[in-house]
Amino acid sequence: MPEGPAVQRMFSGIASRYDFANRILSLGLCVGWRNRLITSVVAAQPKVVADLATGSGDVVFALKQSLPADCVITGYDFCEPMLELGRARAKKENLTLEFKQGDCMALPIPDRSVDVVTVAYGVRNFEDRAKGLGELRRVLRPEGTLFILEFSQPDRWFAPFHFIHVRCILPVLAGLLTGDFGAYKYLGTSIAGFPDADGLEAELKAVGFAKVSHKRMLFGTVALHQAQA
Ligand SMILES: C[S@@+](CC[C@H](N)C(=O)[O-])C[C@H]1O[C@@H](n2cnc3c(N)ncnc32)[C@H](O)[C@@H]1O
Repeated sequence: MPEGPAVQRMFSGIASRYDFANRILSLGLCVGWRNRLITSVVAAQPKVVADLATGSGDVVFALKQSLPADCVITGYDFCEPMLELGRARAKKENLTLEFKQGDCMALPIPDRSVDVVTVAYGVRNFEDRAKGLGELRRVLRPEGTLFILEFSQPDRWFAPFHFIHVRCILPVLAGLLTGDFGAYKYLGTSIAGFPDADGLEAELKAVGFAKVSHKRMLFGTVALHQAQA
């Protein structure tokens, strides 16, 4: 698993170009995947939501549009330049949203205080996945729900295309778009090394989540996980 300070430095370096590169690299598909996450969160009818590894807050802003006005939504990340982008956008759009420093290895959130935790493309970067997943479970209310949107391992027939995309095409294209070839080489490596959806479910169960399920998208390259204690 990657080292936390290295991940922090890497995301600080690409923060200003992150959203733009994301849209291009996923051919806009990331918007549809995120919408699946938002629809699931809305169905859970939360009053308090924590979006962890929030980055520049894409999920937070989409949730704000879809949830009732009295729902408290907070974005947490350990990368200050990413949080600054979220705060600037909230100010520009005149939205009451908080973006706070928070490392998923030791979250500044009280036990059992959150109805829904969301993490989009963050778990893959955790330095210690068991510790991080344990933190997500700690902050959730007993009847709360965790949603993880993350890259996953595709169907066998699609695997060669996926491999070429994430290991060869993606790092070069992303390097050209952002000027940071190293960061996107890491992206390919981290996607390839991440467990498949059943593997992540097993890890969620190991930290105490009892009810787990997932939906695979685009031949399994991305998965939306749902877990309750
Ligand atoms: C690929 S970005 C995803 C951002 C956002 N969730 C999205 O959907 O666009 C990953 C983010 O996870 C953050 N991150 C990685 N490990 C973290 C940790 N241990 N605690 C908090 N944030 C973390 C990084 O700083 C980065 O902003």
